[in-house]
Amino acid sequence: MTPRTRAVGVEIAGSGSALPEHRLTNAELETMMETSDEWILQRTGIRERRRYDTSKPYPTTELGAEALGRALADAGMRPDELGLIVCATMTADSPTPSVSCRAAATLGCGTIGAMDINAACSGFVFTISIAHELIAGGLYDSVGVIGVDTITRHCDYSTFGRGAAILFGDAGGALVLRRSDDARKGMLAQAMHSDGSGARSLYIPNGLGQIVDAEPDPRMDEKIQMNGKTVFKFAVSKFPEVIEETLDTAGLRAADIDHYVCHQANSRILESARERFGLPESKLRINIDRYGNTVAGSCPLVFDELKREGRIEEGQRVMFIAFGAGLTWGASLWQL
Ligand code: UT7
Repeated sequence: MTPRTRAVGVEIAGSGSALPEHRLTNAELETMMETSDEWILQRTGIRERRRYDTSKPYPTTELGAEALGRALADAGMRPDELGLIVCATMTADSPTPSVSCRAAATLGCGTIGAMDINAACSGFVFTISIAHELIAGGLYDSVGVIGVDTITRHCDYSTFGRGAAILFGDAGGALVLRRSDDARKGMLAQAMHSDGSGARSLYIPNGLGQIVDAEPDPRMDEKIQMNGKTVFKFAVSKFPEVIEETLDTAGLRAADIDHYVCHQANSRILESARERFGLPESKLRINIDRYGNTVAGSCPLVFDELKREGRIEEGQRVMFIAFGAGLTWGASLWQL
């Protein structure tokens, strides 16, 4: 891919996030399965994660709509001024309607277009690149991009499922992307990749059992299955690779980027990227200790945290990076 040039600019006009109230701590997990705070903390850096209220009928939609509502308020826009909603999720409350359709109705966005995209943990990063092009191409003046998942509904909180269950938490985040008269603003480079031959290393089997060859094990049905070591190796190699690819496309060096907004899968994976590129802690935020791996919610959650702390400024360069099931991985580099 060559560096982007465009006639109109695209700005990140607002951000927002939403978290369930319930803090599922390592200590609480110790009461549910054979595990320990020490094991989890050492291997992943996670202390607690949030879990959705299981009595609520549409938790993914609720978190997504709440996050987008906050992003709209941050952008100073009314819901009925938004042009389109695209939501990255792999845990829609039902196969149809989509989270984005319900979120549009909840927020009062009128009859605007709304659709979901599933690229697992890479979903939000892929979706902001796509939404950018819809504005840069002149189709829309503004797009609300949501990244939201309630993945804990697919976690098995018994000792059998502990390998994956300890990692995940629920969250939603959103950005409002808007057309800008400043053509320098917007996406400078992007990368999207997939390798379906790695599907078995991270997947959720269902009754149809498309992926499992063996006799279906009812304990696995609808529960996330992960080969942690394989995914770890994949992440440690693809993470720096996709950063380098995106920097090369934009003709920039690692030090030219102000914030690396990364999918939070394991603090060791993030620390190895920091080391590899010689980044200070301030340029690559790790918040997995408080939220765990929140799938499509993780990147917008990090961005929103930085923005609310006043650390996001006009003129900065921000790279969003993620990897996950599929397997998928990608990056989206923005000039603010
Ligand atoms: O969005 C992308 C999502 N996924 C990732 O990025 C995951 C990447 N992978 C990882 O983060 C790590 O592989 C994990 C943290 C998931 C696991 O760490 P590991 O060092 O690869 O552990 P392991 O799966 O090889 O298990 C080591 C031992 C095993 O016991 P034995 O066979 O050595 O006796 C497991 O049974 O630890 C045991 N174990 C646990 N012990 C306590 C597995 N899960 C747990 C647990 N608590 N929760």
